[in-house]
Amino acid sequence: MTVEDPDSTAPGARTPAPRTAAAAGSGPSARPHGDLERYTGLFAQRTQVMKSSAMRDLMALTERPDVISLAGGLADTTLFPAEDLAKVLSHMAAGDAARALQYAPTEGISEIRPCLAAVMAAEGTEVDPDDILVTTGGQQVIDLMCKTLVDPGDVIVAEGPTYPGAVPTFSAYQADLVQIEMDDDGMRIDVLETTLDQLEREGRTPKFIYTIPTFQNPGGVTMSLERRKRLVEVATEREILVLEDNPYGLLRYEGESLPTLFTLDGGRFVVYGGTLSKILSPGIRVGWTVAPAPVRQKMIIGKQGSDLNSSSMSQLFVAYYFRERDWRDYVQRQSDVYRARRDVMLAALQEHMPEGTTWTRPQGGLFVWVTFPAWVDTTDLLARALQHDVAFVPGRAAFLDGRGGNSMRINFSGVTEDDIRTGIARICTVIEEQMELYASLTGTTRPRSGGAASEPPPAPRTADAPVVPLRTAGRRRGNG
Ligand SMILES: Cc1ncc(COP(=O)(O)O)c(C=O)c1O
Repeated sequence: MTVEDPDSTAPGARTPAPRTAAAAGSGPSARPHGDLERYTGLFAQRTQVMKSSAMRDLMALTERPDVISLAGGLADTTLFPAEDLAKVLSHMAAGDAARALQYAPTEGISEIRPCLAAVMAAEGTEVDPDDILVTTGGQQVIDLMCKTLVDPGDVIVAEGPTYPGAVPTFSAYQADLVQIEMDDDGMRIDVLETTLDQLEREGRTPKFIYTIPTFQNPGGVTMSLERRKRLVEVATEREILVLEDNPYGLLRYEGESLPTLFTLDGGRFVVYGGTLSKILSPGIRVGWTVAPAPVRQKMIIGKQGSDLNSSSMSQLFVAYYFRERDWRDYVQRQSDVYRARRDVMLAALQEHMPEGTTWTRPQGGLFVWVTFPAWVDTTDLLARALQHDVAFVPGRAAFLDGRGGNSMRINFSGVTEDDIRTGIARICTVIEEQMELYASLTGTTRPRSGGAASEPPPAPRTADAPVVPLRTAGRRRGNG
């Protein structure tokens, strides 16, 4: 069977693995163009529904110095003093070289767990350090939840929009993702309850509810206390697990912190997911979870199959860092920088965005969610934006059902204030171009953008604010 043989790509056709490097196309001679087809028959069924992470794909762009990427979810690691890193690492090497280079228990190195408990306590969440399972980033918590609980076709309920990086995980486990709309107060729990009733009538109970209640990614909104309480009641009444993913809780720029779902529930149905990626470093890949004992036990077994243990070196670095430096001070310094960048972004949006555009005003976290008039397609917009050297995450990446087409997620933590201003202005240039195109195709008058000087721009609305139709914008503001 050769790569030219059409049968070699038939579903289920098993093509023998190439025997030589040349046959595999990996030799010095050019790769044959049928490379992918050669392997098609070998892939597992699940790969047919696996989705690439829009964010990871966009990460490649952040490497290009000419592109202003508002697409990432990056902590600004340039804020971390290099000399601190050097000193802490050298102390770790002097004191614990052998352990740093050795395997570690799957549950995590003992010294790191009180550090992670201290991070939770800083937000008012009390936990026994022994109950913490250290993971390889917060991403592994999502993966282990799915690995432990989800069979193909099982339902996971999440916010709509949801964390774009969770979408490939859910699809890899062949979950059926049901997304619940949000407003200013986070997930609509009334809609959740109606949806759970409907699912129950269909004989389906979700395996878990995935939520980012605080400074949601990508929505930027925070679940109100009332809804938090009700969500915990719903979980208890219906005996459904909730995964509370909380990477951003300590990056608060204004307002009072709210109790975590984990605190309200006492850890009976709520599984907590944390990470140091946003408050210390994503490069060290340290996250953690606290779960009811039986779930935790399965997660430990699941983790053994994935990576045996999270990096010993990273864990020891964290233990030394917490011992020798004031981690809270660093979080505070980051928050001050991000607060200023958020304000610059909100002001730039206010100045440039076209009539009918709405956006969230996050009290913390890293993201603003922007919703354009319905005729804007942000996937198309991104292609054009890249020609103008600016990137964002198109809204469809945060849904599994095709919604989000006229929304985008933009990040303010990983970019300088100047780049935020330039980036937003560039996006608006592209929008202007689309407006011209729209107007010429539809023969309508061209909707105006900006113009804050003559008329105040619309108040920022929520992630799921109803889309303002172009007609309305034209009537109200027209340019005739
Ligand atoms: C909501 C959410 N969960 C999990 C993660 C993954 O975190 P980590 O980088 O620690 O794996 C992120 C990263 O952006 C996130 O926003």
